[in-house]
Amino acid sequence: HGRPGRTVPGTDFEPVAPNTADAVVVPEGYEQAVVIRWGDPVLPGAPRFDFRRQTVAAQERQFGYNNDFVGLIPQDGLGLRNLLVVNHEYTTETHMFPADQYDPENPTEEQVRIAWAAHGMSVVQALRDPRGGLRVVPSWYNRRITITTEFELRGPAAGSDLLRTSADPTGRKALGTQNNCAGGVTPWGTVLSGEENFNQYFANADAVTDPVRRERLARYGLRGGGSRRRWERFDPRWDVAKEPNESNRFGWVVEIDPHDPHSTPVKHTALGRFKHEAANVTIQPDGRVAVYSGDDERFDYIYKYVSKGRYKKGTSARARRHNMGLLDDGTLYVARFTGNSPAGEIDGSGRLPSDGEFDGTGEWIPLASGNRSFVDGMSAEEVYVFTRLAADRVGATKMDRPEDIEVNPVNGRIYAALTNNTDRGKAGKAAADEANPRTGNRNGHVIEWEETGETTFSWRVLLVCGDPAAADTYFGGFPKDQVSPISCPDNVAFDGYGNLWISTDGNTLGSNDGLFSVPVEGPERGHVKQFLTVPIGAEACGPVVTEDLVLVAVQHPGEDAPSSAEPVSHWPDGGDAQPRPSVVAVWKKGRFGRPGKIGR
Ligand code: FEO
Ligand code: CA
Ligand code: CA
Ligand code: CA
Repeated sequence: HGRPGRTVPGTDFEPVAPNTADAVVVPEGYEQAVVIRWGDPVLPGAPRFDFRRQTVAAQERQFGYNNDFVGLIPQDGLGLRNLLVVNHEYTTETHMFPADQYDPENPTEEQVRIAWAAHGMSVVQALRDPRGGLRVVPSWYNRRITITTEFELRGPAAGSDLLRTSADPTGRKALGTQNNCAGGVTPWGTVLSGEENFNQYFANADAVTDPVRRERLARYGLRGGGSRRRWERFDPRWDVAKEPNESNRFGWVVEIDPHDPHSTPVKHTALGRFKHEAANVTIQPDGRVAVYSGDDERFDYIYKYVSKGRYKKGTSARARRHNMGLLDDGTLYVARFTGNSPAGEIDGSGRLPSDGEFDGTGEWIPLASGNRSFVDGMSAEEVYVFTRLAADRVGATKMDRPEDIEVNPVNGRIYAALTNNTDRGKAGKAAADEANPRTGNRNGHVIEWEETGETTFSWRVLLVCGDPAAADTYFGGFPKDQVSPISCPDNVAFDGYGNLWISTDGNTLGSNDGLFSVPVEGPERGHVKQFLTVPIGAEACGPVVTEDLVLVAVQHPGEDAPSSAEPVSHWPDGGDAQPRPSVVAVWKKGRFGRPGKIGR
């Protein structure tokens, strides 16, 4: 890994080499510590984690499973006190419970309820540790949100017939959030979180006979008989045949106000319903806010929401209430990407076309605005609840699994990770196009765009990921013999200098996943460097990159183990311990004990 003479602020570290260590590996000169792990106390009365003696009462007070998004909200100017907001995406019961206690065919009610409590989100207060990391403390702010916490459904589809259930005839009160993947901290200090693969929790879609309902369920991946986790045995709302609309109450962007532990979290119907990977808010020059969100499925779409109202400055409770309302009324769009090179030059090989870039222009196609639908044959409520079907009808561009999308605070451009799509170009499936330029895309790519008008943008592919030695990879034009290999980009973040940070999930190159930095401007645009690797089987999530701290969520360490009887990772506790999903802080060793700036 050679480094050219110039160094971009924020990325001056020696890259970590690809490896398969059962550890978080950071560059020379950096230190790390676990901030919080599955089972650690969040609320008063939380017992010490005991793998062999888990209870619902304990898990409801402890940090949940499979941390994904991490939001860090400073409570003072120095970042000495912070709120840490973390998602718990999903459970893997065969790893969570001792193999001699858990029968996958017949989970006990207690085990099912533990899994419910292990989902959702955690809010904890975290103090800056003088030695460098973050220390979670007991606090008034600490909160667990689980699969049974009450949420308010808001926006244009709230109260719709499509959202009413026997437990909630109003269609405005949903219980819980699940499969929360990436997210974002809003300019008003709340957290947005995307409900992603919600379909997997619902049973018996096969029992539905009505063709319209069947089509809707199938488009969202609801199929089959019993669910893998068998939750339907203990609450009929997970049974589509018994409670037809309950699944319509998931797949939304949720918003929680971590500053008020008693606030009712919200599901925003105006942002549409799909497998939301994330949602990030940006304030447009005219004061209206835009929210970008991807639908993480092969051949699904990228969406934008633009509010009707304007952002009110400040983080007072009053400003927050106003600003949260901005997500109730606006216009929902879906993206169409049009390439500028002759179609014949995009042959699926990943080789650049003759103009030297995968690039072009794009268009935001409106789907609905407030109570008005722009999609023939669908009401506005139907557009919001069955957004995928609406987008199918308007000719949106089928993407290679849109994951996290984030706006660069320095150059204003928007960056989306497209994690992979091995079905691209298969018989009967969409062929490669300039925005998704590889057939059988195993390693994913990263696309950037800038808005050029109310409904227009221009775009280019920044990275075509994979082994830099392979002909089908592209690193923004940077010399490929100087970059770190990167595969399956998932979550994205920016540091204060505008460098893009990418965490990965599903590395196909034979080494562990990790976190990478890449400048997006100047001569080092495309210079991907690996900042850390995560343990065996883990996905790198989060991430948060501040001036002097990096946070990464290590999700599903040891994922490939057949069960907890044969763990393949013992991270972070070591010895013969079971692996535990955890949030890790990394900082630069400083002189005089004060942490140095990351990458400076
Ligand atoms: Fe949960 Fe799309 O990653
Ligand atoms: Ca081109
Ligand atoms: Ca993700
Ligand atoms: Ca993922």
